[in-house]
Amino acid sequence: MPDADISTLEAVALAATRSAAVAGYAWVGRNDQKAADAAATSAMRAALADAPGRGTVVIGEGEKDDAPMLFNGELVGNGHGPDFDIAVDPLEGTSFCARDLPGSLATIAFGEAGTLWSPGPGFYMDKIVVPPRAKDVIDLDDPPEQTLVKVAEALGKKVADLRVVIMDKPRHKELIARVLQAGAAVQTPAGGDVGGSLAVLMPTFDIDLLLGVGGTPEGVMTAAAVRALGGGMLGRLAPQRDEEADAIRAAGMSLERVYDCAELVAGDAFFVASGVNGGPLLGRPRTGGGTTVVESLLISRGQIRHVTHTTFD
Ligand code: FBP
Repeated sequence: MPDADISTLEAVALAATRSAAVAGYAWVGRNDQKAADAAATSAMRAALADAPGRGTVVIGEGEKDDAPMLFNGELVGNGHGPDFDIAVDPLEGTSFCARDLPGSLATIAFGEAGTLWSPGPGFYMDKIVVPPRAKDVIDLDDPPEQTLVKVAEALGKKVADLRVVIMDKPRHKELIARVLQAGAAVQTPAGGDVGGSLAVLMPTFDIDLLLGVGGTPEGVMTAAAVRALGGGMLGRLAPQRDEEADAIRAAGMSLERVYDCAELVAGDAFFVASGVNGGPLLGRPRTGGGTTVVESLLISRGQIRHVTHTTFD
């Protein structure tokens, strides 16, 4: 089947993240990351089975989480409709969900067939995400101090007025110190760089850029949102262990190459997330009185839509 308008799949994507969010919510605060992830993944997979068309999981739960479902290369959909690519993380922020800390999301990105970048055996990538007005000034080879100056200028701000999100990881100790030293403010969530990137893109949040190393699935999904909104993003594989680096080289992939947003997502794409346990972006599912209410975000073709979906049981 030739490529067709993938926006016809937005409702399916919303149903898939909604299902994953409700399934993951049952495990909020139960200190069982694997069970939470498995529940969300199984629910999302079931919802995608009926998608009209033929989808390929280009980047899925994959080997990083040792997941048996929605693995890279798996086919989804009922075959009757457009071909498409998907990148999924049915439970982005599994530990947040298990510990009932805010910020866990059910996430998916859809792209036209053959347009989502596959990181191969790469689990981690270095990323920079900026709003549309700064998209032409970023360079992953710049020192962070220079990035701050360039982004501040593009946004019409002073470096001291910039707010940067960097995940609080040991690997980011020096980066965080340098950004602070340069005068910018830093938000350091324990994880969740999809949420951090969305905050950069959404004018309602006071965040100007995201820096640092996070997951590749998160990177590709983020790129779908960035592309849909005309923002800027660069990424480069950044293996965190020798075996990961060896596997990337063995797959013939470069550790030096920088991918821009148009390479990470090379065609029309959209991004959807539903809230699992609440947070600044999306509330948690609410059930009771014969209804289930789920909050979602749909980012597609220059628009951010907040969708509150109520199901009557
Ligand atoms: P999970 O969904 O696998 O729990 O990922 C959460 C997350 O914080 C991502 O947002 C981020 O990209 C990645 O983990 C970073 O990985 P690590 O915690 O191994 O540094």
